[in-house]
Amino acid sequence: MGHTDLVIVSNRGPLSFNKDDDGNLAASRGAGGLVSCLGPAVAGAGATWVAGAISEEDREAAAQGVVEAEGFRLRSLVIEPDDYRQFYDVVANSTLWFLHHNLFDLPRRPRIDRRWREAWSTFADVNRQFAEAVAEEAPDGGVVLVHDYQLCLVGTTLAKIRPDLRTAHFNHTPFCEPTALRMLPDEAATEIMEGLAGNGACGFHAKRWARAFQSCCEATLGSVPPTFVAPAAIDTDDLAQVAGSDESKEELAKLDEQIGDRHFIVRIDRIELSKNILRGFLAFEELLRTRPEWRERVIFGAFVYPSRDSIPDYMAYRSEVESMVERINNTWATPSWTPVLAYMEDFFPRSVAAHRRYDVLLVNPIRDGLNLVAKEGPTLNERDGVLVLSRESGVWDEMGDGAVGVNPFDITGTADALAQALSMGRGERAERASRLRAISEGRSPQDWLEDQLDAARPPSN
Ligand code: G6P
Repeated sequence: MGHTDLVIVSNRGPLSFNKDDDGNLAASRGAGGLVSCLGPAVAGAGATWVAGAISEEDREAAAQGVVEAEGFRLRSLVIEPDDYRQFYDVVANSTLWFLHHNLFDLPRRPRIDRRWREAWSTFADVNRQFAEAVAEEAPDGGVVLVHDYQLCLVGTTLAKIRPDLRTAHFNHTPFCEPTALRMLPDEAATEIMEGLAGNGACGFHAKRWARAFQSCCEATLGSVPPTFVAPAAIDTDDLAQVAGSDESKEELAKLDEQIGDRHFIVRIDRIELSKNILRGFLAFEELLRTRPEWRERVIFGAFVYPSRDSIPDYMAYRSEVESMVERINNTWATPSWTPVLAYMEDFFPRSVAAHRRYDVLLVNPIRDGLNLVAKEGPTLNERDGVLVLSRESGVWDEMGDGAVGVNPFDITGTADALAQALSMGRGERAERASRLRAISEGRSPQDWLEDQLDAARPPSN
């Protein structure tokens, strides 16, 4: 019970609820990067987690008040479904996510109209509701860790109604530059920057995002709050446990059979616009076109699973991904070889099996706050596989040195990097793989939590 004064607040919480065969609610550990990185460090430590009730079952569970399960103490916040859509779909994911990841197709988006302004006002209201729930749960002088872009305005309300609390806001995304921030109405941009700066400190996975945030603070507020850089870390014990499970071993056996003695390029991602899945396939196709010696000798395994499917852009992207897999297979397959194997459900034991089996791991996002896949791969892989890594990912700062770097927009460059990785000699592969493993295992979830706590409660002079 080491963290009873701690409240964590995030949109997606550490538990998700389902009905068992008898119709009773059952809690299980939730999906997502935040719970996999922070969960191990806080489970069983007495902290309270405030999060949105996302599914119908989550809402039902919220009616029971604070729920304790899997070592977590969860206070779920029920938000009216229409308000949640404005908060999550319109502002958080179709505006702020696009802004920070540079995803806008500028001649068409964003559309800052009257409807957007209504959604913005709902977004502010939902942030207020999160802050009020935190204020109810937090003990006197407690520490609050606020997570991510969805809750960027929580700091404003907390500073007003609970000035006794010590708070830090951690951003998991990249941060936009001041010129991009200017696409938002001035009032909204100022509210965001004030909301973040209303916390005791603001944290990022990489220096570049921290610097961009500081520039935005200078441009909008004329001052910069304490800022820290603390990359998240993976829980190696948890990964080892999944790798040792019967489910994951069965998946590995199936992959072994499908791949045989061919080389195996792997990508593991949510079907997410920032992940650059289409250019990854095009690079693989360019490799097949320009280097015939690799035809029939390599398989691309795409372990990609649906995400945010209430947003039309994501649904359209998913169907583009599906058509591209079909087209590439129709163009290049032979009677004994299917070039792309695509698995489109989220099944973590299978992803872990793919990590163990890859010769090359492709992580080529357009922009990414960190990227946990690039950290999980080297620790699970058993073949001295090579990491081909986008220099636009936050994790590049830590791992770029051991990876083969790519400009994610350069398809030819990515095809060259894949070819380089596939033909790299044993010695160099082993040397790079051990360097990457040392980096990814060099920090633990506990270290990441400590960095955030230190930032929220700096030593008094
Ligand atoms: C990824 C991002 C986080 C974000 C999360 C939300 O993990 O790195 O920045 O908070 O997605 O995902 P969701 O499925 O809850 O929209």
